[in-house]
Amino acid sequence: MKKIIIANWKMAPASLKEAVSFLAKIGEYLKRNKSGSEIVIAPPYVYLESLISASAAAKGYGGLRFASQNVFWEEKGAFTGEISPKMLKNLGANYAIIGHSERRKYAAETDEMINKKVIAALNEGLKAVLCVGEPLEVRKKGKKAAMNFVKNQLQKDLKGIKKLSIVGRGLLVIAYEPVWSISTSGTGLVCSPDDALEMIKYIKKLLTTNYQLLTPRVLYGGSVDSQNIQGFLKHNEIDGALVGGASINAKEFKKIVELTI
Ligand code: PGA
Repeated sequence: MKKIIIANWKMAPASLKEAVSFLAKIGEYLKRNKSGSEIVIAPPYVYLESLISASAAAKGYGGLRFASQNVFWEEKGAFTGEISPKMLKNLGANYAIIGHSERRKYAAETDEMINKKVIAALNEGLKAVLCVGEPLEVRKKGKKAAMNFVKNQLQKDLKGIKKLSIVGRGLLVIAYEPVWSISTSGTGLVCSPDDALEMIKYIKKLLTTNYQLLTPRVLYGGSVDSQNIQGFLKHNEIDGALVGGASINAKEFKKIVELTI
């Protein structure tokens, strides 16, 4: 089964030197990847160009891909501090993570902003990894409440995408990331593979019926590590994982890759 593993480095490491050395450790290993699974690194913006060049110089490290952790919705102009989908595409990035719960929380991103970002990325041919997931207070109300929350997020974040013919080409990926299961959320809770599977099946049903997406890919994210990843990936319906904390630990991430490729 071909999976997608996205390493979300968040705001780490502290220097380009460390980022390059990490890539070399993982990259050498990735040359053995004959599985067709995709390993995607999402470093901070400032390291993207160097890492993409290093990977190209190493003949792409067995199909290593790159993602940004965010993107803006306009193509160019007076938007201080922002980066456009075109810039990322021109740099050689393949994916953009959009609507991560940390951006919703710390950068006050709304569903309306996220919707514009998804559309802009897809229009540019940049694969969008849209993150959705309920907070703890909603999950405490039960599965039905969690599903309604995610359905509502998808409705807002994917508004108008049916009109984009480009979506049929597999450019849209959804990451189900229950906010309470993220390793730094402070809850100490981890979503079980069964609960993740149930939600992912539900998301896939919504995407096929409401958005006519024929083969939607949906990943799971939240406290994934080398110990628990197989519990998620063994299910055909779970197309991969978005890994945070464990992805910036070279030993851990190597194990995760080994269990995937
Ligand atoms: P985590 O982060 O693996 O550290 O829980 C996942 C994410 O926030 O994308």
